[in-house]
Amino acid sequence: MRAPLVNFRRLQVAAPWPLVWTVTFFILLARLVVLLVGIAVTAVRHWRAWPAVALVLLAVDVHRSHGWWPHVLVLIVVAASAGMWWWRSRESFERLVVLRGLSWWRRLWVYRRQWHEVMSLCGLVKKYDGGEKLPELLSVRCSYATDEVVLRMPRGQNPEAYHKAARDLAYSFGTRHCRVFSGRRQAPPARSGSLAWILRRVDAIRFRDRPRQVWLVLIRRDPLTRIVKPLPVPARPDFTALPLGTREDLAVYCLRLLATHVLIGGATRMGKGSVIWSLLRALAAGIRSGLVRVWAIDPKGGMELSIGRPLFSRYVDDDWTRMADMLDDAVTRMRARQRVLRGKVRVHTPTVDEPLIVIVIDELATLLAFLPDSDIRSRIAQSLGMLLSQGAGLGVLVVAATQDPRKEVVSVRDFFPTRIALGLTERGHVDLLLGDGARDRGALADQIPLSAKGVAYVLLDGQPEPARVRFSYISDDVIREMAATFPAPAEVQPEPVNTPTPTPAPAAVKARSNGNGRHTYRPTAPKQAAPLLPSSLLHALDLDATPNGGDPR
Ligand SMILES: Nc1ncnc2c1ncn2[C@@H]1O[C@H](COP(=O)(O)OP(=O)(O)O)[C@@H](O)[C@H]1O
Ligand SMILES: [Mg+2]
Repeated sequence: MRAPLVNFRRLQVAAPWPLVWTVTFFILLARLVVLLVGIAVTAVRHWRAWPAVALVLLAVDVHRSHGWWPHVLVLIVVAASAGMWWWRSRESFERLVVLRGLSWWRRLWVYRRQWHEVMSLCGLVKKYDGGEKLPELLSVRCSYATDEVVLRMPRGQNPEAYHKAARDLAYSFGTRHCRVFSGRRQAPPARSGSLAWILRRVDAIRFRDRPRQVWLVLIRRDPLTRIVKPLPVPARPDFTALPLGTREDLAVYCLRLLATHVLIGGATRMGKGSVIWSLLRALAAGIRSGLVRVWAIDPKGGMELSIGRPLFSRYVDDDWTRMADMLDDAVTRMRARQRVLRGKVRVHTPTVDEPLIVIVIDELATLLAFLPDSDIRSRIAQSLGMLLSQGAGLGVLVVAATQDPRKEVVSVRDFFPTRIALGLTERGHVDLLLGDGARDRGALADQIPLSAKGVAYVLLDGQPEPARVRFSYISDDVIREMAATFPAPAEVQPEPVNTPTPTPAPAAVKARSNGNGRHTYRPTAPKQAAPLLPSSLLHALDLDATPNGGDPR
């Protein structure tokens, strides 16, 4: 019997049972629909597991009907095919089988198993509505040196939180380094062929910007602990990608030297020389063909650069005035080009007639801050300022090394668009070199151990996060061999002849410390007789800028 809902003596209200049942039914139905949709979404999301599930079911069924022998047969066939594949095409086998298997295993065993614990302990879990919001593990891709983990941040977070937690994350997952990238690291592949337009559309969706995803690159085995051998000299230098060393993800580190100046910062004996020599090696074929002209200034009296003298079209190591003259000449060349190119192109393309001029300066601070003669110092600062502010697009580039990146020492620091931070002595120097916040984003250049010479942090194209690289080590013998194989053709611009020659070094040999307290002795390069300037070129240059109305330097 149905009892009334309210039963006062005078007032009686009947319970609306049909309404209660209908509402309950619809609530349960809605829950069921949500559950089914959830199962469908999970199944679609884990579509990669379908073949495995199907295979297991098939294996169980075959075992029931035929016993073990079909399994043994299949295993033998699979092992033989894998062996054959490995033998015929090792690269594709490693990429598609070994590394994929490794990725699957590490995703399951290292990351999925410890994900909740590590994220909580590293402070990356958010609390909301009485529950927890975890970063979502999306994928793991392994190389022989790194694990690339892609995750989706919970709402209320930005990549900064992961930059801050990077070291905790690295050690929690049993590695020493973890780089955090807020953007995709690979560009979409270049497509060609008749179906290219469809593939490009698919790529546009696949590679679309996903702001909530974060890429963690954990360095499993640090490939930068070993010295990097000199890389092969490219037959024709590609100025957009000059191979200089190894990245920590085992890729070759390539420097883009197109329309940019490069500042190399590093404490003494941390390997600034190896950056310069690696760059010269990458340019060597261009130096020999005349496409690249290297003008070198070594204010430390030739301690670093004199050994490769034949590579340089012009070289000064002993006379401040000649250094200033050389930079003035570079400005003159730059302005001549400016007049020719004005209104035609915005970036100069190097040719043998109008080559790329790379001015290499081993210790910039000596020229800008510590030079005793203030007149020459201000001349040098002025020319450098002109070159740095206007020369990049005109093919007159400056590559300079400094021990101290402070503005008091290197006043023109901000004019270098490309910076390289080798081991530094002070924490504050990292941001001065690589830009504000670079250290927080992972450039721990002040923590590079003394033994890791040639290891540096650099910014790769289009990525705000720094990458760790090691430059190839070019020994003295390799430099000598390079200088003999790729000498620069004679420079059309003669070296100055009217400047007073400084007192020569006491002996015809100069000492150079090799870091072990011992000294290796190298003969100084003989001064080359420079050819005279052809009159055609004489008129092409801006002679107004030279003193005495046209005394060519
Ligand atoms: N890329 C490198 N890999 C290994 N060792 C290096 C590398 N660069 C330099 N070294 C070692 O470090 C020493 C100092 O390097 P150097 O280039 O002269 O330093 P810097 O110019 O910064 O004072 C070298 O004598 C060499 O033994
Ligand atoms: Mg040096």
